[in-house]
Amino acid sequence: MNKIVAFSKRKGFIFPSSEIYGGFSAVYDFGPYGVELSNNVKAEWWKAMVQTREDIVGLDSGIFMNPKIWEASGHVSGFSDPLSECKDCHARLRVDHLLEEAGIFADEKMTEDEINKLFSKNVKKIKCPSCGKSNFTEARKFNLLVKSNLGNFTGSWADEPVYLRGETCQGIYVNFRNVVDSTRVKIPFGIAQIGKAFRNEITARQFIFRTREFEQMEMQYFISPSEEMKEYEKLRKYRWKYYLNLGFKEENLKWHKHENLVFYAKEAYDIEYKFPFGFKELEGVHARGNYDLTQHSKFCGKELNYTDPISGEKYIPHIIESSVGVGRTVLAVLTESYTEEEIDGEIRVVLKFPKKLAPVKVAILPLMKNKEELVKKAKEIFNNLKLKFNCEYDETGTIGKRYRRQDEIGTPYCLTIDFDSLENNDVTIRNRDTMEQKRISINELEGYLFKNLNE
Ligand code: GAP
Repeated sequence: MNKIVAFSKRKGFIFPSSEIYGGFSAVYDFGPYGVELSNNVKAEWWKAMVQTREDIVGLDSGIFMNPKIWEASGHVSGFSDPLSECKDCHARLRVDHLLEEAGIFADEKMTEDEINKLFSKNVKKIKCPSCGKSNFTEARKFNLLVKSNLGNFTGSWADEPVYLRGETCQGIYVNFRNVVDSTRVKIPFGIAQIGKAFRNEITARQFIFRTREFEQMEMQYFISPSEEMKEYEKLRKYRWKYYLNLGFKEENLKWHKHENLVFYAKEAYDIEYKFPFGFKELEGVHARGNYDLTQHSKFCGKELNYTDPISGEKYIPHIIESSVGVGRTVLAVLTESYTEEEIDGEIRVVLKFPKKLAPVKVAILPLMKNKEELVKKAKEIFNNLKLKFNCEYDETGTIGKRYRRQDEIGTPYCLTIDFDSLENNDVTIRNRDTMEQKRISINELEGYLFKNLNE
């Protein structure tokens, strides 16, 4: 993990937030290659969850919403984690995580009293991860919603705080009616959105795995009550296949079934990924019953039901969801791709990204930078290819160093322009994974890259 954190900073993937001011914990910035990677992650998700699905449409709702939404969803009263402070070093800690480390499972639904009983019964087995002592305050439930001071001047909610959204799916639920009325969707159908969410996470360790500001990719699928479990199984299979298509090894993924469900849920599974710190949740796939639309209907006073156009049956749609973080996917992709290989006694670091996720697809390298004809030809190729693929032009350092630099950021192909290129109108194309080099005519380059980058 330490290697990935240091590497991500050194190579311009992920920077700690506000670093020159001493940092800002649990927020990270994507650097020049990180933003390309996360954009590609989002584009692949959007393709799989919206563009190739006739039954799913997209949405982009606001981060600020009417505060009543968070009351209706249960976040104001119930979206909390148990917090304790170490009396010696003042580290703020999540009690459920401390218990988990000691092999004790704390149910999400436990009251403050129940969790405190469990905590004090087992406290001897638990050490503070910061100072190693065992001297804690009582646990108290800490709400994760982030409040803003956005001016809140009119409306019945004028005295309530406006929150930064804690999950993107609430924006989907409250637009259910708008989407049904403005498009031709018929149940079963889904609404998908990608966007920022904010949570007052108590502990923020493990790099971009758990941050206070993060992006979610969520799809909510609206179905008739009788179809819920059938559609849920279909969605689970679809999401599993999605990760295999994205290049994840199947042995690095596993299902985790939630044993203690919230009262409205029918079933809940997580897809876990083998991060450097063990198997942990990557995505949640949940069958939520009709809780969400029922709650919003109750709180807003409007009917949020659906009439089947064929049978005439009227009901409040049930919802199954797929929800995954962009940052968590990026961390999984970095973990999956980071490779060290020994080549001629030296370590080659190479990010073996699936080609569709690679930040740079093609690097264009003139053999020497002080030979005008080579630079001119290389720039010609670069200016043509950059319209089709994300390309990088690099003329500094030996060709070997430039190959290594591209290997480190996971560029699938390098093109070298040498003196033969001027004679024969061809270039050397080098494959990142096999390091194989071959000559290819410049006229055939575009077709070759299209075919091989999209395989
Ligand atoms: N709408 C359901 C929902 O938000 P969740 O399990 O709280 O469910 C879904 O979050 C996904 O969002 C997680 O599986 C994870 O990928 C991502 N996520 C949640 N909290 C996060 C955090 N603090 N930092 C980064 N990603 C987070």
